[in-house]
Amino acid sequence: MAVFEVKNLKYQYGKQGKEAIRGISFSIKEGQIFGLLGPSGAGKSTTQKIMTKLLPSYQGSVLYQGKELRTYGSEFFESIGVGFELPVHFLKLTGLENMKFFQNLYQSKAAIEPLLEKVGLLEDKDKLVGEYSKGMKMRLNFVRALLNNPSFLFLDEVTNGLDPTNARILKDMILDFKNKGGTVLLTTHLMGDVEALCDQVAFIKEGIIIESDTPRNLKLKYGVRKVDVEYQNKKALKKETFELEGLGQNAAFLNLIQTKTIETIHSGETSLEDIFIQITGDDLHA
Ligand SMILES: Nc1ncnc2c1ncn2[C@@H]1O[C@H](COP(=O)(O)OP(=O)(O)O)[C@@H](O)[C@H]1O
Ligand SMILES: [Mg+2]
Repeated sequence: MAVFEVKNLKYQYGKQGKEAIRGISFSIKEGQIFGLLGPSGAGKSTTQKIMTKLLPSYQGSVLYQGKELRTYGSEFFESIGVGFELPVHFLKLTGLENMKFFQNLYQSKAAIEPLLEKVGLLEDKDKLVGEYSKGMKMRLNFVRALLNNPSFLFLDEVTNGLDPTNARILKDMILDFKNKGGTVLLTTHLMGDVEALCDQVAFIKEGIIIESDTPRNLKLKYGVRKVDVEYQNKKALKKETFELEGLGQNAAFLNLIQTKTIETIHSGETSLEDIFIQITGDDLHA
């Protein structure tokens, strides 16, 4: 069954404002990690804000566990965890004090110290958060999202700007959450995260979902298998890419390997990042 069913969702910031979401539909099944992907300004955060009841004046319908989101009271917040881009903590409280404070807002309570241990913060629990590094703050922010033992997790760009070690810790925590039966909606513009985590993805651009499928199906649909050849040309290293299909009859390829000094040959498939650019015409990092 779908945990969230979003149908023809629209949202406008202010009466004269811009229509940030222009009629999107998708569903998130139980146990899935659903990735909402798109360039900056596409409407990813707006969608998450609607789904976390921060923006109530939306059009269309958002069903959570089969019931319209608007009809839920505080029980909704008992069942969800939220990790949004910029961590907000009390800098003059310790990590543990921060977590105790936020946990008091909930009825359902997870054990805090094992969570701190999982993100590698147990030893720093009695340090003031003001002395934490950015990576530590972001890891603490993730713990905060889990304080009430949620069954659904909203994550908005949680690995953004993290070094690989910190990013890996968070990705492992996300997979761990899923493996214990949790469901996740995550937004990101980092395709590596998506390849590692997502069961289903939707590409959003200018408030419209332009494609949605599993990463595997997207690769089958848009991807081509290719061969990259690096070779020496007048003392410079050059690279050319050929389609794997028909390689043995590809005159340009055959000529290259017969006449140049080859440094490397790699076969591979189109990355989700390439596919994203192909579908949207946008560069994610632009
Ligand atoms: N509080 C706001 N008031 C007015 N416009 C906003 C507000 N927040 C976001 N927008 C606009 O809505 C669009 C979608 O923004 P957002 O959902 O933050 O995109 P994303 O998270 O994909 O980068 C953008 O054009 C943005 O400028
Ligand atoms: Mg955003």
